Amino acid sequence: MNMYAKELLEQLKKEKLLSKENLVYLIDHREEVREEAAKTARTLGDRYYGKSIYPRGLVEFTNYCRNNCYYCGIRAGNRNVKRYRLSKEEILQACENGYEIGYRSFVLQGGEDPYFHIDRMEEIVAAIHERYPECAITLSIGELNREQYQRLFDAGANRYLLRHETADEKHYRMLHPDSMSLAYRKQCLYDLKEIGYAVGTGFMVGSPFQTTEHIAKDLLFIKKLDPQMVGIGPFVPHHDTRFKDEPAGTVELTVFLLSLIRIMKPNVLLPATTALGTIDPEGREKGILAGANVMMPNLSPVMVRKNYELYDNKICTGEEAAESKKTQSERMKAIGYYLDFCRGDYKEDEIEPERSTNGH
Ligand code: 5AD
Repeated sequence: MNMYAKELLEQLKKEKLLSKENLVYLIDHREEVREEAAKTARTLGDRYYGKSIYPRGLVEFTNYCRNNCYYCGIRAGNRNVKRYRLSKEEILQACENGYEIGYRSFVLQGGEDPYFHIDRMEEIVAAIHERYPECAITLSIGELNREQYQRLFDAGANRYLLRHETADEKHYRMLHPDSMSLAYRKQCLYDLKEIGYAVGTGFMVGSPFQTTEHIAKDLLFIKKLDPQMVGIGPFVPHHDTRFKDEPAGTVELTVFLLSLIRIMKPNVLLPATTALGTIDPEGREKGILAGANVMMPNLSPVMVRKNYELYDNKICTGEEAAESKKTQSERMKAIGYYLDFCRGDYKEDEIEPERSTNGH
């Protein structure tokens, strides 16, 4: 029995923070506290969001990308990708299909594609906002400058997803070419927050060269940034990258980290990611039972889905949105949760935890 890991978990519950060294210890000795962490995380999640799982309709509108992140299947240097772009009309049609079946939250995700320059994006966001003023619009289109983020916000976007990928400078360099920088990425995140976006960041679990210390730094960066959303999923190798023979991240560690993040920030929006569902058919259920409360089903036209292949064997590339809604709803019901088709806004206020009575 490892008392120290248990004590650290208790401290984390109370203070919502641990030192880097203690986080490393806790993660390395998670076996002892995994169940307790999941239970605590799930209770905290329920306190804020009840049994609701918020679905976000994901539209992967371009797989062109100017960047060459070494782990990513749609990196610029991959000549084997069949590149596609959806037209503005196709993007609107994907939203319309989603809206019809109940979605009130859309995520537009794409590579950093120069074709979708700021004027074009502004027009697309404005068109979605005009048609569905009550819906939340999330963008996930990478690094822009502050003025550009501001214009998209003014056009109607309310949320932005930009994973920091790793908070360790040296590790960042092992995963990205020299043209990219962790400092600028962090700057983007702070700019987005200041502008007023609900911001999501995150990292891959088990990415090549990742150590427990890197993960501890990721958690501390998240604590400091204080984002409204945190997206973490296992690294999954892609056959056309230099990391094709590297092992994937594990469900077990990903799920534990979901719990830690929920405990550190009880009201955070936390997706059970597609990557988690890819390495384990029950991965997303396991994620939810460990504290996740968001899912991002695909609304992209089935025709193009296979081409948005960030990693191998990505799931849900063949299923129409309406079908997947049905299966996912049933799967959530089976574990005591339900897909709550609303905007799924972040709950700002910290609910005071029940005071324990053992302190006089
Ligand atoms: N495995 C898992 N996740 C990946 N991403 C990119 N490539 C992979 C991969 N091989 C993630 C990155 C990015 C998000 C859109 O997808 O973290 O931010």
